[in-house]
Amino acid sequence: MINNINNKNIPKHIAIIMDGNGRWAQSKGKMRAFGHKNGIKAVRETVEGAAEIGIKFLTLYAFSVENWKRPKKEVNALMSLLVTAINNEMQRLIKNNIKLTVIGETDNLPSKTKEELMQAINITKNNTRMTLTLALSYSGKWDILNAVKKIINDKIDPQNLDEKIFQQYLTTKNVPYPELLIRTSGEHRVSNFLLWEIAYSELYFTDTLWPDFSKKDLKKAIIEYQNRERRFGKTKEQIEN
Ligand code: IPE
Ligand code: IPE
Ligand code: MG
Repeated sequence: MINNINNKNIPKHIAIIMDGNGRWAQSKGKMRAFGHKNGIKAVRETVEGAAEIGIKFLTLYAFSVENWKRPKKEVNALMSLLVTAINNEMQRLIKNNIKLTVIGETDNLPSKTKEELMQAINITKNNTRMTLTLALSYSGKWDILNAVKKIINDKIDPQNLDEKIFQQYLTTKNVPYPELLIRTSGEHRVSNFLLWEIAYSELYFTDTLWPDFSKKDLKKAIIEYQNRERRFGKTKEQIEN
């Protein structure tokens, strides 16, 4: 049992389902949007913490395709919050040498949000310390379906189609599969996040609501991950030898 991060076993890629903003706000008698606003602080902490620990890829689920079904007022608040957040965080991303990317059906985003996002992606594209991917208007099923459509379009011979080729058609093609998937707020589900990519991820659930998530919580999740035995179908004895 280790109690501190082992620098020899740092996951390359951590994916996080940032959940619980609404409940956090409601528990304080505030509107849900107040929770989203405070969720940004947790994003900042997590991005900074991950980079410090030496994580190379961090993927944050910020808005799902299903989230479009929320009340218009909340969707609008989230979209304008995104613009503000990207604006405010841009300098920090540059200073910390972090590359921003996005996955999802971004065509559906309001043009202002899209513009802001594309600008930040462009400015940070040569950064090398960590790749921060925002999943926006994202759905794992959408990504898989899209991959299938492109594969058909490219007339890939089914005889040749394997996992490696399939992966090249996903929007996550430039990112290794996440070793660790974290979900906050006590919900124990995947909610259409990286379905293909998490086939062998270690899952970590915490009751902490997203706005309260801190570097300490991230560290705790990584330590828990490092205490797991990843067997990939093999036996314990095979892993130990
Ligand atoms: C996560 O918090 C943020 C988004 C899904 C955009 P929620 O808004 O889902 O918060 P809860 O789950 O209702 O508390
Ligand atoms: C999942 O959270 C999506 C994001 C965190 C962006 P939700 O709060 O929307 O998930 P469900 O609907 O409770 O499963
Ligand atoms: Mg939620």
